[in-house]
Amino acid sequence: MSAAFGAGSLLETAMSFQRAKLLLTGLELGLFDLLAGGPAEEGTLRERLGLHPRGSGDFLAALTEAGVLVREGSRYHNGAAAAQFLVRGEPAFLGGFLHVADEVMYPAWGRLADALRTGAPQAATYSRPDMFGELYEDDAKRSAFVRMAEDASRPLIPALAEGFDWAAHKAVLELGGCRGNVAAGLVTAHPHLAATVLDLPQLRPEFDAHMRALGTADRVRFHAADFFTDDLPESEVVMIGHCLVDWTDDQRRALIANVLPAVRPGGAFLIWDPMIVPGDESCLRNLVRSLNMQLMTPDGANYRVDELTGWLREAGFGEVRHDGLGQDVTLVTAIRPE
Ligand SMILES: C[S@@+](CC[C@H](N)C(=O)[O-])C[C@H]1O[C@@H](n2cnc3c(N)ncnc32)[C@H](O)[C@@H]1O
Repeated sequence: MSAAFGAGSLLETAMSFQRAKLLLTGLELGLFDLLAGGPAEEGTLRERLGLHPRGSGDFLAALTEAGVLVREGSRYHNGAAAAQFLVRGEPAFLGGFLHVADEVMYPAWGRLADALRTGAPQAATYSRPDMFGELYEDDAKRSAFVRMAEDASRPLIPALAEGFDWAAHKAVLELGGCRGNVAAGLVTAHPHLAATVLDLPQLRPEFDAHMRALGTADRVRFHAADFFTDDLPESEVVMIGHCLVDWTDDQRRALIANVLPAVRPGGAFLIWDPMIVPGDESCLRNLVRSLNMQLMTPDGANYRVDELTGWLREAGFGEVRHDGLGQDVTLVTAIRPE
């Protein structure tokens, strides 16, 4: 954006928090859920959502101009994206992520200067270095985290199912696979494939319930372990996604070193994350995501694809390649030499 970055774009960037809140407030108020029941006039929406007449007209008109709502005559209804992603209960509902964006990330971004001065996270989610142990002590926090993580990875499942030669492999071990949503998507797309999800023991009940609900309990099993300190079960393909961004460079290198012996010689280690790829059009968004990780976690940050390549080579992996998965995410494939 640098060359044509005049006063107009500068002000638009500076004020873009307003657009964000327009959408997030629609979600907070339950507007999209209400409209999922059928089109409604402003008066009805005002009454049902408890809104004051001063702002409701502009609020609905702004959401319409933004393409989130559609107005037909005097009635509003959800636009296609709102109907798909902003209505509770829809399979692609992004409310788990957007709820955390509104409640946790938005206030934390108001303290970016403090984070930059101190290096400390600003989200008040963690007070101990054992961040997942602390998070999982509280049922509500654990459940909110799982839904947020899943909303971020669910849109990647089709590209992950296409982006690797799964036909040539029978089994995959997914590290930090949470309650198994991605693994279930892969075995559904490739019925010959079996998956093992390795994650912390606190997630087993959620994993069991989710696999039962999806009907994949017989093809995706859970392995409770710590991916830093425990021996990992051997597999021809090992995968990890949206996890390395949670840790320091040293922890990432230690984890990668722990993974190498688990990958069968000739097998593959797949890593997917919103990596920083200099020159790519995702670069700005992933640098912003990196600052978000710094606001939200004690040690997390996004990393560069060439840094990851170096850590993989240092651990003993051979051929390393990277491909875009869409959604600003890069898939890195590293082969363990025979
Ligand atoms: C950001 S979530 C990503 C979840 C999943 N890969 C996805 O993208 O939907 C990070 C995952 O790493 C798991 N995790 C964190 N520390 C771990 C550890 N030491 N050993 C195993 N899993 C761990 C968490 O429980 C969580 O499921």
